[in-house]
Amino acid sequence: MSSADNILILGSGGQIGTDLVHTLRTELGGDRVIAADVKDQEGYLKESGPFFKLDVMDGQAIADVIKANKVKHVYLLAALLSATAEQKMKMAWKLNMEGLFNVLDIAKELGGMRIFWPSSIAVFGPTTPRVNTPQFTTMEPTTVYGISKQAGERWCEYYFNKFGVDVRSIRYPGLISYKAQPGGGTTDYAVDIYHQALDKGSYNCFLKEDTALPMMYMPDAIRATLELMNADADKIKIRSSYNLAGISFTPREIANEIKKHIPEFQISYEPDFRQAIADSWPMSIDDTRAQDDWGWVPYYDMASMTKDMLLHLKEARMSAEH
Ligand code: SER
Repeated sequence: MSSADNILILGSGGQIGTDLVHTLRTELGGDRVIAADVKDQEGYLKESGPFFKLDVMDGQAIADVIKANKVKHVYLLAALLSATAEQKMKMAWKLNMEGLFNVLDIAKELGGMRIFWPSSIAVFGPTTPRVNTPQFTTMEPTTVYGISKQAGERWCEYYFNKFGVDVRSIRYPGLISYKAQPGGGTTDYAVDIYHQALDKGSYNCFLKEDTALPMMYMPDAIRATLELMNADADKIKIRSSYNLAGISFTPREIANEIKKHIPEFQISYEPDFRQAIADSWPMSIDDTRAQDDWGWVPYYDMASMTKDMLLHLKEARMSAEH
Protein backbone atom coordinates (compact mmCIF):
# COMPACT_ATOMS: atom_id res chain seq x y z
CA MET A 1 0.00 0.00 0.00
CA SER A 2 1.52 3.35 -1.00
CA SER A 3 1.15 6.54 1.02
CA ALA A 4 -1.51 7.71 -1.45
CA ASP A 5 -3.69 4.71 -0.66
CA ASN A 6 -6.29 4.63 2.08
CA ILE A 7 -7.93 2.27 4.54
CA LEU A 8 -11.67 1.73 5.08
CA ILE A 9 -13.05 0.35 8.35
CA LEU A 10 -16.65 -0.85 8.11
CA GLY A 11 -18.37 -1.22 11.47
CA SER A 12 -15.97 1.31 12.97
CA GLY A 13 -18.33 2.20 15.83
CA GLY A 14 -18.18 -1.34 17.23
CA GLN A 15 -15.88 -2.90 19.78
CA ILE A 16 -12.95 -3.76 17.48
CA GLY A 17 -13.54 -0.84 15.12
CA THR A 18 -13.23 1.79 17.85
CA ASP A 19 -9.79 0.55 18.85
CA LEU A 20 -8.63 -0.16 15.30
CA VAL A 21 -9.52 3.32 14.00
CA HIS A 22 -7.71 4.87 16.93
CA THR A 23 -4.54 2.81 16.40
CA LEU A 24 -4.44 3.30 12.63
CA ARG A 25 -5.16 7.03 12.79
CA THR A 26 -2.43 7.45 15.40
CA GLU A 27 0.03 5.58 13.16
CA LEU A 28 -0.94 6.90 9.72
CA GLY A 29 -2.72 10.19 10.39
CA GLY A 30 -6.47 10.73 10.43
CA ASP A 31 -6.99 11.43 6.73
CA ARG A 32 -5.91 8.02 5.47
CA VAL A 33 -8.20 6.03 7.72
CA ILE A 34 -11.84 6.21 6.67
CA ALA A 35 -14.29 5.18 9.35
CA ALA A 36 -17.76 3.96 8.38
CA ASP A 37 -20.69 2.65 10.37
CA VAL A 38 -24.39 2.03 9.82
CA LYS A 39 -25.06 4.31 12.81
CA ASP A 40 -24.06 7.94 12.76
CA GLN A 41 -21.26 8.54 15.27
CA GLU A 42 -20.19 11.40 17.48
CA GLY A 43 -16.83 12.47 18.84
CA TYR A 44 -13.52 10.84 18.01
CA LEU A 45 -14.55 8.78 14.94
CA LYS A 46 -15.95 11.85 13.18
CA GLU A 47 -13.56 14.46 14.48
CA SER A 48 -10.22 12.73 13.89
CA GLY A 49 -10.72 11.83 10.21
CA PRO A 50 -13.23 11.07 7.48
CA PHE A 51 -16.47 9.30 8.45
CA PHE A 52 -19.22 7.84 6.25
CA LYS A 53 -22.59 6.50 7.31
CA LEU A 54 -22.58 3.19 5.40
CA ASP A 55 -24.63 0.00 5.53
CA VAL A 56 -22.56 -3.09 4.64
CA MET A 57 -25.64 -4.48 2.88
CA ASP A 58 -25.35 -1.63 0.36
CA GLY A 59 -22.59 -2.90 -1.92
CA GLN A 60 -22.88 0.03 -4.33
CA ALA A 61 -22.37 2.62 -1.60
CA ILE A 62 -19.30 0.76 -0.32
CA ALA A 63 -17.87 0.50 -3.85
CA ASP A 64 -18.41 4.23 -4.38
CA VAL A 65 -16.51 5.14 -1.20
CA ILE A 66 -13.69 2.73 -2.09
CA LYS A 67 -13.30 4.12 -5.59
CA ALA A 68 -13.63 7.79 -4.64
CA ASN A 69 -11.08 7.49 -1.83
CA LYS A 70 -8.39 5.20 -3.30
CA VAL A 71 -9.05 2.56 -0.65
CA LYS A 72 -6.73 -0.47 -0.79
CA HIS A 73 -7.29 -2.09 2.60
CA VAL A 74 -10.78 -2.84 3.93
CA TYR A 75 -11.58 -4.11 7.43
CA LEU A 76 -15.11 -5.52 7.49
CA LEU A 77 -16.05 -5.45 11.16
CA ALA A 78 -19.84 -5.11 10.96
CA ALA A 79 -21.60 -8.21 12.32
CA LEU A 80 -24.12 -9.43 14.86
CA LEU A 81 -22.43 -11.38 17.68
CA SER A 82 -23.40 -14.77 19.08
CA ALA A 83 -26.11 -13.97 21.64
CA THR A 84 -27.90 -11.39 19.45
CA ALA A 85 -27.67 -13.69 16.43
CA GLU A 86 -29.61 -16.38 18.34
CA GLN A 87 -32.43 -13.86 18.85
CA LYS A 88 -32.32 -12.43 15.31
CA MET A 89 -31.49 -15.56 13.32
CA LYS A 90 -32.28 -14.57 9.73
CA MET A 91 -31.12 -11.01 10.11
CA ALA A 92 -27.76 -12.17 11.53
CA TRP A 93 -27.26 -14.58 8.64
CA LYS A 94 -28.15 -11.89 6.11
CA LEU A 95 -25.96 -9.20 7.62
CA ASN A 96 -22.97 -11.46 8.29
CA MET A 97 -23.03 -13.07 4.83
CA GLU A 98 -24.21 -10.27 2.52
CA GLY A 99 -21.74 -7.83 4.00
CA LEU A 100 -18.93 -10.28 3.32
CA PHE A 101 -20.07 -11.02 -0.25
CA ASN A 102 -20.35 -7.31 -1.02
CA VAL A 103 -16.78 -6.64 0.06
CA LEU A 104 -15.32 -9.80 -1.55
CA ASP A 105 -17.06 -8.98 -4.84
CA ILE A 106 -15.74 -5.41 -4.84
CA ALA A 107 -12.20 -6.71 -4.19
CA LYS A 108 -12.62 -9.27 -6.98
CA GLU A 109 -13.79 -6.62 -9.41
CA LEU A 110 -11.29 -3.88 -8.58
CA GLY A 111 -8.21 -6.06 -7.92
CA GLY A 112 -5.14 -5.01 -5.90
CA MET A 113 -7.01 -4.82 -2.60
CA ARG A 114 -6.45 -6.45 0.77
CA ILE A 115 -9.44 -7.46 2.90
CA PHE A 116 -9.65 -8.28 6.60
CA TRP A 117 -12.63 -10.26 7.81
CA PRO A 118 -12.98 -11.46 11.41
CA SER A 119 -13.90 -15.03 12.18
CA SER A 120 -14.34 -16.39 15.69
CA ILE A 121 -13.90 -19.30 18.09
CA ALA A 122 -17.63 -19.74 17.38
CA VAL A 123 -16.75 -21.66 14.19
CA PHE A 124 -16.08 -24.64 16.45
CA GLY A 125 -18.81 -26.77 17.95
CA PRO A 126 -19.53 -29.52 20.47
CA THR A 127 -17.74 -32.19 18.40
CA THR A 128 -14.49 -30.15 18.30
CA PRO A 129 -11.70 -31.01 20.79
CA ARG A 130 -12.15 -28.27 23.40
CA VAL A 131 -8.66 -28.06 24.88
CA ASN A 132 -5.91 -26.60 22.70
CA THR A 133 -8.29 -26.70 19.75
CA PRO A 134 -6.20 -27.33 16.62
CA GLN A 135 -6.22 -25.14 13.50
CA PHE A 136 -7.65 -27.96 11.39
CA THR A 137 -10.23 -30.06 13.19
CA THR A 138 -13.88 -31.08 13.27
CA MET A 139 -16.06 -27.99 12.94
CA GLU A 140 -19.78 -28.38 13.48
CA PRO A 141 -20.93 -25.04 14.91
CA THR A 142 -24.37 -25.09 16.53
CA THR A 143 -24.98 -21.33 16.80
CA VAL A 144 -26.30 -18.99 14.11
CA TYR A 145 -23.21 -16.83 14.56
CA GLY A 146 -20.87 -19.83 14.31
CA ILE A 147 -22.61 -21.13 11.20
CA SER A 148 -22.24 -17.73 9.52
CA LYS A 149 -18.56 -17.50 10.48
CA GLN A 150 -17.87 -21.04 9.28
CA ALA A 151 -19.56 -20.35 5.93
CA GLY A 152 -17.72 -17.03 5.71
CA GLU A 153 -14.37 -18.75 6.19
CA ARG A 154 -15.16 -21.13 3.34
CA TRP A 155 -16.08 -18.19 1.09
CA CYS A 156 -12.91 -16.27 1.97
CA GLU A 157 -10.79 -19.25 1.00
CA TYR A 158 -12.86 -19.74 -2.15
CA TYR A 159 -12.43 -16.13 -3.29
CA PHE A 160 -8.68 -16.38 -2.67
CA ASN A 161 -8.31 -19.67 -4.58
CA LYS A 162 -10.62 -18.85 -7.47
CA PHE A 163 -10.23 -15.12 -7.90
CA GLY A 164 -6.98 -14.26 -6.13
CA VAL A 165 -8.69 -11.96 -3.61
CA ASP A 166 -6.14 -11.21 -0.87
CA VAL A 167 -8.41 -11.83 2.09
CA ARG A 168 -7.02 -12.45 5.56
CA SER A 169 -8.77 -13.54 8.72
CA ILE A 170 -8.39 -14.34 12.41
CA ARG A 171 -10.60 -16.50 14.61
CA TYR A 172 -10.80 -14.01 17.45
CA PRO A 173 -11.25 -15.27 20.98
CA GLY A 174 -13.46 -13.19 23.29
CA LEU A 175 -12.11 -9.64 23.16
CA ILE A 176 -11.71 -7.43 26.20
CA SER A 177 -11.27 -3.68 25.93
CA TYR A 178 -11.81 -0.51 27.89
CA LYS A 179 -12.46 1.83 24.95
CA ALA A 180 -15.77 0.40 23.76
CA GLN A 181 -18.34 -1.94 25.22
CA PRO A 182 -19.03 -5.07 23.20
CA GLY A 183 -22.61 -5.87 22.28
CA GLY A 184 -24.44 -9.15 22.16
CA GLY A 185 -21.60 -11.64 22.64
CA THR A 186 -21.23 -14.62 24.96
CA THR A 187 -17.73 -13.64 26.03
CA ASP A 188 -18.91 -10.11 26.91
CA TYR A 189 -19.21 -10.94 30.60
CA ALA A 190 -15.43 -10.56 30.76
CA VAL A 191 -15.76 -6.87 29.85
CA ASP A 192 -18.85 -6.09 31.89
CA ILE A 193 -17.34 -7.63 35.02
CA TYR A 194 -14.68 -4.88 35.17
CA HIS A 195 -17.24 -2.09 34.77
CA GLN A 196 -19.54 -3.55 37.43
CA ALA A 197 -16.63 -4.25 39.78
CA LEU A 198 -15.82 -0.53 39.74
CA ASP A 199 -19.39 0.77 39.69
CA LYS A 200 -21.17 -1.67 42.02
CA GLY A 201 -18.49 -3.83 43.64
CA SER A 202 -20.34 -6.94 42.48
CA TYR A 203 -21.25 -8.84 39.33
CA ASN A 204 -23.96 -11.36 38.49
CA CYS A 205 -22.45 -13.61 35.82
CA PHE A 206 -24.56 -15.25 33.10
CA LEU A 207 -22.06 -18.14 32.82
CA LYS A 208 -21.15 -20.78 35.42
CA GLU A 209 -18.06 -20.17 37.53
CA ASP A 210 -15.94 -22.87 35.88
CA THR A 211 -16.69 -22.05 32.22
CA ALA A 212 -13.29 -21.64 30.56
CA LEU A 213 -13.21 -19.65 27.32
CA PRO A 214 -10.40 -18.31 25.14
CA MET A 215 -10.01 -14.54 25.57
CA MET A 216 -7.65 -11.78 24.48
CA TYR A 217 -6.91 -8.22 25.56
CA MET A 218 -7.75 -5.76 22.78
CA PRO A 219 -4.23 -4.29 22.32
CA ASP A 220 -3.02 -7.81 21.49
CA ALA A 221 -5.95 -8.37 19.12
CA ILE A 222 -5.31 -5.08 17.29
CA ARG A 223 -1.60 -5.84 17.01
CA ALA A 224 -2.38 -9.34 15.66
CA THR A 225 -4.78 -7.87 13.12
CA LEU A 226 -2.27 -5.32 11.86
CA GLU A 227 0.59 -7.84 11.83
CA LEU A 228 -1.51 -10.18 9.73
CA MET A 229 -2.59 -7.39 7.37
CA ASN A 230 0.96 -6.07 6.99
CA ALA A 231 2.58 -9.48 6.44
CA ASP A 232 3.83 -10.37 2.95
CA ALA A 233 1.17 -12.28 1.03
CA ASP A 234 3.36 -15.37 0.63
CA LYS A 235 3.52 -15.77 4.43
CA ILE A 236 -0.25 -16.13 4.67
CA LYS A 237 -0.71 -19.85 4.10
CA ILE A 238 -4.21 -20.07 5.54
CA ARG A 239 -6.93 -18.18 3.72
CA SER A 240 -9.89 -19.44 5.71
CA SER A 241 -8.95 -18.05 9.12
CA TYR A 242 -6.13 -18.33 11.67
CA ASN A 243 -6.54 -19.68 15.20
CA LEU A 244 -5.32 -17.06 17.65
CA ALA A 245 -4.71 -17.60 21.36
CA GLY A 246 -4.29 -15.13 24.18
CA ILE A 247 -5.52 -16.02 27.65
CA SER A 248 -7.97 -18.72 28.73
CA PHE A 249 -9.84 -18.26 32.00
CA THR A 250 -13.08 -18.93 33.86
CA PRO A 251 -15.39 -16.37 35.52
CA ARG A 252 -14.07 -17.51 38.91
CA GLU A 253 -10.48 -16.96 37.88
CA ILE A 254 -11.07 -13.47 36.55
CA ALA A 255 -13.10 -12.57 39.64
CA ASN A 256 -10.18 -13.68 41.82
CA GLU A 257 -7.82 -11.53 39.76
CA ILE A 258 -10.12 -8.51 40.19
CA LYS A 259 -10.26 -9.18 43.95
CA LYS A 260 -6.50 -8.59 44.11
CA HIS A 261 -7.28 -4.95 43.22
CA ILE A 262 -10.78 -4.63 44.72
CA PRO A 263 -10.80 -7.00 47.75
CA GLU A 264 -14.50 -6.46 48.53
CA PHE A 265 -15.60 -7.48 44.99
CA GLN A 266 -18.32 -10.16 44.96
CA ILE A 267 -19.41 -12.41 42.10
CA SER A 268 -22.62 -14.45 41.82
CA TYR A 269 -23.72 -16.83 39.05
CA GLU A 270 -27.01 -17.05 37.19
CA PRO A 271 -26.40 -18.97 33.95
CA ASP A 272 -28.82 -18.27 31.08
CA PHE A 273 -29.06 -19.38 27.41
CA ARG A 274 -25.52 -18.16 26.80
CA GLN A 275 -24.18 -21.04 28.92
CA ALA A 276 -25.10 -23.51 26.14
CA ILE A 277 -23.28 -21.34 23.60
CA ALA A 278 -20.16 -21.22 25.78
CA ASP A 279 -20.33 -24.97 26.37
CA SER A 280 -20.18 -25.58 22.62
CA TRP A 281 -16.99 -23.51 22.22
CA PRO A 282 -13.30 -24.31 22.89
CA MET A 283 -11.72 -23.72 26.29
CA SER A 284 -8.29 -22.95 24.83
CA ILE A 285 -6.79 -22.60 21.37
CA ASP A 286 -3.67 -23.87 19.62
CA ASP A 287 -2.34 -21.01 17.49
CA THR A 288 0.93 -22.58 16.32
CA ARG A 289 0.16 -21.75 12.70
CA ALA A 290 -0.20 -18.03 13.39
CA GLN A 291 3.08 -18.15 15.32
CA ASP A 292 4.89 -20.02 12.53
CA ASP A 293 3.43 -18.25 9.49
CA TRP A 294 3.48 -14.59 10.54
CA GLY A 295 5.26 -14.53 13.88
CA TRP A 296 2.35 -14.09 16.31
CA VAL A 297 3.27 -13.67 20.02
CA PRO A 298 0.72 -12.49 22.66
CA TYR A 299 1.94 -10.00 25.31
CA TYR A 300 -0.84 -9.82 27.87
CA ASP A 301 -1.74 -12.35 30.55
CA MET A 302 -4.70 -12.17 32.93
CA ALA A 303 -2.78 -10.18 35.57
CA SER A 304 -1.37 -7.51 33.22
CA MET A 305 -4.71 -7.20 31.40
CA THR A 306 -6.64 -6.75 34.66
CA LYS A 307 -4.23 -4.12 35.94
CA ASP A 308 -4.44 -2.17 32.67
CA MET A 309 -8.24 -2.48 32.34
CA LEU A 310 -8.89 -1.23 35.87
CA LEU A 311 -6.43 1.62 35.46
CA HIS A 312 -8.03 2.89 32.26
CA LEU A 313 -11.60 2.41 33.45
CA LYS A 314 -10.82 4.29 36.68
CA GLU A 315 -9.23 7.12 34.69
CA ALA A 316 -12.31 7.36 32.47
CA ARG A 317 -14.56 7.57 35.53
CA MET A 318 -12.40 10.25 37.11
CA SER A 319 -12.33 12.41 33.98
CA ALA A 320 -16.12 11.99 33.57
CA GLU A 321 -16.57 13.41 37.10
CA HIS A 322 -14.53 16.54 36.35
N1 SER B 1 -16.98 -12.67 21.32
C1 SER B 1 -17.85 -13.33 20.40
C2 SER B 1 -19.14 -13.65 21.01
O1 SER B 1 -19.19 -13.94 22.18
C3 SER B 1 -17.21 -14.58 19.89
O2 SER B 1 -16.60 -14.31 18.70
O3 SER B 1 -20.12 -13.67 20.31
